Amino acid sequence: MYRHYLQWHITHECNLHCIHCYQEDCHCVMPYREMACALDKYEAYIREKGFEGQINLTGGEPLLHPQFFTIASEIRRRDIRLGILTNGTLIDAELAGRIAELKPIFVQISLDGGEKIHESIRGIGSFQKALCGIDSLKECGVRVLVSFTVMQQNFRELKKIAAVCAGHHVDKLWWDRVVTEDASQYLTTEQFKKVSRAAAKLAKRYSFISNSRALEWIPEGGCGYQCSAGKRLLIFLANGDMMACRRLPFVIGNIKEVADLQTMLAENKIMKELATPTFPKDCEGCKFFYKCAGGARCVTYAQTGRLDLKDVNCYL
Ligand SMILES: C[S@@+](CC[C@H](N)C(=O)[O-])C[C@H]1O[C@@H](n2cnc3c(N)ncnc32)[C@H](O)[C@@H]1O
Ligand code: SF4
Ligand code: SF4
Repeated sequence: MYRHYLQWHITHECNLHCIHCYQEDCHCVMPYREMACALDKYEAYIREKGFEGQINLTGGEPLLHPQFFTIASEIRRRDIRLGILTNGTLIDAELAGRIAELKPIFVQISLDGGEKIHESIRGIGSFQKALCGIDSLKECGVRVLVSFTVMQQNFRELKKIAAVCAGHHVDKLWWDRVVTEDASQYLTTEQFKKVSRAAAKLAKRYSFISNSRALEWIPEGGCGYQCSAGKRLLIFLANGDMMACRRLPFVIGNIKEVADLQTMLAENKIMKELATPTFPKDCEGCKFFYKCAGGARCVTYAQTGRLDLKDVNCYL
């Protein structure tokens, strides 16, 4: 069955202030009845399309939302898969137990380096707290993923993060490039190549490392990623605004104002454009084109303002 993902930023508030974060710290949560109504519309959409739905609750810091457990339980009651993306710093044994009762598919926690670099990005004290969060969840039998956002400040840290993940029995470590207007954080193509090669080497030692995002597959030779914006991904922000992808700066509507989500998405110009991308001219002749389709459009758009260019870090 085709799986559709809703990434729902239920709050934009956060207890951390990471240097690279694309979230604005605003107080714009919907009242619970509006959230339930948004959920009704999403459920109707996936049922009509015959999709298996997965909702990843995120933020800001989703666990700060006063109705986090109410909305998460409601998602599970409707038999929709649940993922949780958190910085992990608020999770102790008690909270981990409550999360485990929700039976999420996974909880994802961010690590952006060894302790020193992680804290230079995420703030003092955040590293040990995130590790406590990981340990508490693992003790309750929850599948834990670690997300590593790679930027200028931390692109040499993968090996350290992998060792930490191994020590804490993390189930999956995945990494992705930062998407920002701050050009000082971009990786050069040479740096991206180095991280990709190091990741491919580390994956032989640590089976939990996933090199499946745009272009990360190059050193291993087989393309397994294509941008899903416009196709099987939808974003809700805390005020109900919808986006095709959180990393592309296009708001396509507001769920509170939509009567029929299926019709709205089918008719939306941006969704249609993203679903049928222009083939980047510079990719012509590449044997991976039909699988890769130009790499990470969000990274390239942030750096060039164009959707029709080959991935800025492609070295093929
Ligand atoms: C927005 S956060 C929300 C969940 C939680 N607060 C956290 O930090 O994991 C989800 C993920 O997005 C990443 N992220 C934030 N800003 C980003 C950016 N500008 N580019 C790429 N990833 C970013 C974070 O590092 C984190 O792994
Ligand atoms: S913890 Fe997550 S939401 Fe909060 S500032 Fe950091 S990246 Fe942004
Ligand atoms: S040349 Fe284009 S299609 Fe080929 S791997 Fe690079 S970005 Fe992907």
